[in-house]
Amino acid sequence: MEKRIRAMYFTGTNTTAKVTASIAYKMWQQLAGGGNQADAGSPGGKASCGKAESIRYTKAENIDFSPREARDKAYAFDENDIVVFGTPVIAGRVPNVLLKFLDTLQGGNAMAVPVVLYGNRNFDDALIELRNILEARGFHTVAAAAFIGEHSFSKALAAGRPDAQDMKLADAFAAKAAAKVGRLIVENGGDNARIAVALSAAGPVAVAGEEPLRPYYKPRDRKGNFINILKVKPKLDREKCNGCGICVTACPMGSIQADTPGAVSGICIKCCGCVKKCPQGALYFDDAGYLYHKEELEIEYAARKEPSLFL
Ligand SMILES: Cc1cc2nc3c(=O)[nH]c(=O)nc-3n(C[C@H](O)[C@H](O)[C@H](O)COP(=O)(O)O)c2cc1C
Ligand code: SF4
Ligand code: SF4
Repeated sequence: MEKRIRAMYFTGTNTTAKVTASIAYKMWQQLAGGGNQADAGSPGGKASCGKAESIRYTKAENIDFSPREARDKAYAFDENDIVVFGTPVIAGRVPNVLLKFLDTLQGGNAMAVPVVLYGNRNFDDALIELRNILEARGFHTVAAAAFIGEHSFSKALAAGRPDAQDMKLADAFAAKAAAKVGRLIVENGGDNARIAVALSAAGPVAVAGEEPLRPYYKPRDRKGNFINILKVKPKLDREKCNGCGICVTACPMGSIQADTPGAVSGICIKCCGCVKKCPQGALYFDDAGYLYHKEELEIEYAARKEPSLFL
């Protein structure tokens, strides 16, 4: 029997990609026996103990569902899949533009490790929401984590995170999650029906967050009035733009067209992928409410937070 391990993620500025891909890889390494027997797509090592000796662990290709077209495809998993599933935190929740897509996933009794990345304010109910979505789609959640990534809006808030310290914690978390998965498989003799019963009996992994889920976080100004940045989009400095088109592929909403690079024509979720990936620094925000909110966040949440791990 072959078990496939992969990361599946949405990411604007790559912090979610970095953490989830690393956790999936380290989990595979540990489950495959600590070696480097295989690369993505080729057979991994064998489980090394107990009755589950005939199980092979494969590092499957990661799925990046950030490009808009990637969310037009159907994704179905089965009980031989182990998926480290990541999204950024947006307004304290799972990005609402993803909900329709997430509702099309078919978990098929696969094991899942929900992971959220947040910009050092708070992950509020994002992790519990992601866990619940995955469970509702037929995954069994076995471990979960909230990591900190440089805030999309800022180069100062959680600057450079996830950093080396975070990645060390991600490795330790992956080792523990893999040990839990491995134990479960071995204890149930590698039998998928028995594993499914054990997973159902264990129930979803316990995580921080509230139910019912709280409303989306809304930024306020100094006077306590809500700041509405829904319609805010990056602007283009035409003098700086060289037409390279990096922003076209960077936009997860497909809102920058190839024939007018730099110009945002559709929905913008302010993920800042285009802004941070533009090699010319040609994209910027000038909305007063947005800039105020960014500065408030940088001041109020300057103190370093640490990842939260649930096993
Ligand atoms: C519109 C928007 C809202 C966000 N809301 C939150 C939030 O509520 N709490 C928080 O700590 N970070 C928040 N962030 C920051 C991101 O969660 C964080 O930077 C994350 O690492 C981005 O992941 P990515 O690099 O994979 O895109 C928000 C980012 C955006 C774009
Ligand atoms: S990434 Fe920057 S320089 Fe390249 S096309 Fe877009 S705005 Fe212009
Ligand atoms: S246009 Fe908006 S949604 Fe698209 S990459 Fe830029 S910030 Fe993200």
